[in-house]
Amino acid sequence: MREKDLLFDTILTRSFSKNQQKRLGYGAFIACLFFVSTLCTVFKHCLSPLPTMELQLSVDTGLRMLRVTETQKPQALSSTTPTSISKKQAISDGSKIEETVKCKKQSRTEVCELNGDVRVHGKSAMILAAITSAFSGNTTWQMRPYARKRDPGAMNRVREWTVKLDKNGERLENANFSRCVRNHSVPAMVFSLGGYSMNNFHAFTDIVVPLFTTARRFNGEVQFLVTNKNQAWINKFKEILRSLSNYDPINIDDEDETHCFTTVIIGLKIHPEYFHELTIDSSFSEYSMSDFRRFLRDAYSLRTAAVDPRRRRRPRMMILSRVGSRAFTNTDEIANAAGEIGFEVVVAEANTGLARFAETVNSCDVMLGVHGAGLTNMVFLPENAVVIQILPIGGFEWLAETDFGRPAKGMNLRYLEYKIRGEESSLVRQYGRDHEVVRNPKAFGKRGWMAFKATYLVQNVTVDINRFKPVLAKAFELLQTQSM
Ligand SMILES: *[C@@H]1O[C@H](CO)[C@@H](O)[C@H](O)[C@H]1NC(C)=O
Ligand SMILES: *[C@@H]1O[C@H](CO)[C@@H](O)[C@H](O)[C@H]1NC(C)=O
Ligand SMILES: *[C@@H]1O[C@H](CO)[C@@H](O)[C@H](O)[C@H]1NC(C)=O
Ligand SMILES: *[C@@H]1O[C@H](CO)[C@@H](O)[C@H](O)[C@H]1NC(C)=O
Repeated sequence: MREKDLLFDTILTRSFSKNQQKRLGYGAFIACLFFVSTLCTVFKHCLSPLPTMELQLSVDTGLRMLRVTETQKPQALSSTTPTSISKKQAISDGSKIEETVKCKKQSRTEVCELNGDVRVHGKSAMILAAITSAFSGNTTWQMRPYARKRDPGAMNRVREWTVKLDKNGERLENANFSRCVRNHSVPAMVFSLGGYSMNNFHAFTDIVVPLFTTARRFNGEVQFLVTNKNQAWINKFKEILRSLSNYDPINIDDEDETHCFTTVIIGLKIHPEYFHELTIDSSFSEYSMSDFRRFLRDAYSLRTAAVDPRRRRRPRMMILSRVGSRAFTNTDEIANAAGEIGFEVVVAEANTGLARFAETVNSCDVMLGVHGAGLTNMVFLPENAVVIQILPIGGFEWLAETDFGRPAKGMNLRYLEYKIRGEESSLVRQYGRDHEVVRNPKAFGKRGWMAFKATYLVQNVTVDINRFKPVLAKAFELLQTQSM
């Protein structure tokens, strides 16, 4: 077993002594400190050794606004968690309980798999699993099945479920569980479409990617139980849901009838690193980001797997346009410059159906856009395509790298960045060249995230074509070569 698995695997099997467990625990702690100190070098105002603040990109597609939220310190493991059961149980009766309950607790998510006689009652948000063997430890805990655990802004919008291990025949006494009204022959997965699900970036990084890594192994033979009913989301991502499950998802919150399964998974698997977005880490999953992107191409019948340097046509560049905030004010000028360099230009806004938009993206070799959730559509680009992210003024470096820069590289895309200068921002016209907002965003940023959000997320961008041309030329040049 790899160490990484062990660090975050809270079902501690009997094969590990207490000391070994302790060492692993320290390792995780030191890793966290290291990570936090890395963060603190980014956010200079970080005073304590724990991340007191955490930039949270949550571009609401409806509002088209980036939201920055403050989040609390990572919480200590609560005593009502499955961890406490598992640990105790591992010592007394490890093998038997593991057959029934397997829980993983990580910084981003909690996932439990229940096996045996498992009953789900939607209206009361309860899941009951019959335990045949005697065991000590807590038999009841709560879970919110959404993969952004430390972010209260997201988690407050996720329904809480109660999981009960029933060793006293409660399933027979409690009328909600006494009768299986719907028997299912396939495993179930419970996950939330609440949280930040309506933002395209979060939809992918918090739900779609983890859903893929959790559900793919069932080869379609899995029943999705959706909590926080969200028909708009189900409509938007219907191709993905259909490709992962042969059954229509059930809006479980509405169900007053008890659904019975032999396996129920609550929560979605995601890599343990909190700030790794849009990625699949091979240390926790048998799948890779390439598998995910191949899956997307199948789900949406996308034709182009990789850019072809020997193409007979001009390379295509998509200019992602936004309206409202972080809009280009000189899209035509950018398009003309790109045309002169040799690109065929497509200007598109991500407001058509996802299937159609995915097709358009997949037909392009370059995607150009200002930092924002629309860039998430890079997942549909062919391998070796180029992503150009435009960074507004205000200190977007860390967000840009975390949300799109590193993910792009992880998807076998070439990545270029263009940081605008004060003169290219609408904030100059608004505040004047000498205002602190323009002159010293770092200092202004110390006023907190609400101020940051209200100021820097609502600027428009007028790209200085002469300054930007070399970036376009670089993208063009990259496309003439086979790969990185
Ligand atoms: C078990 O969980 C319940 C409900 O979450 C909690 O009230 C109780 O204190 C826990 N008991 C122990 C021993 O942890
Ligand atoms: C049974 O379900 C109803 C909602 O349908 C809920 O109000 C009630 O508390 C549940 N009963 C128990 C014992 O959990
Ligand atoms: C579901 O399965 C259980 C156990 O096999 C059985 O007792 C029950 O009648 C079944 N319910 C339905 C609605 O078929
Ligand atoms: C940015 O441009 C949009 C039009 O695309 C406009 O509605 C908005 O008011 C502009 N915002 C600023 C801050 O200039």
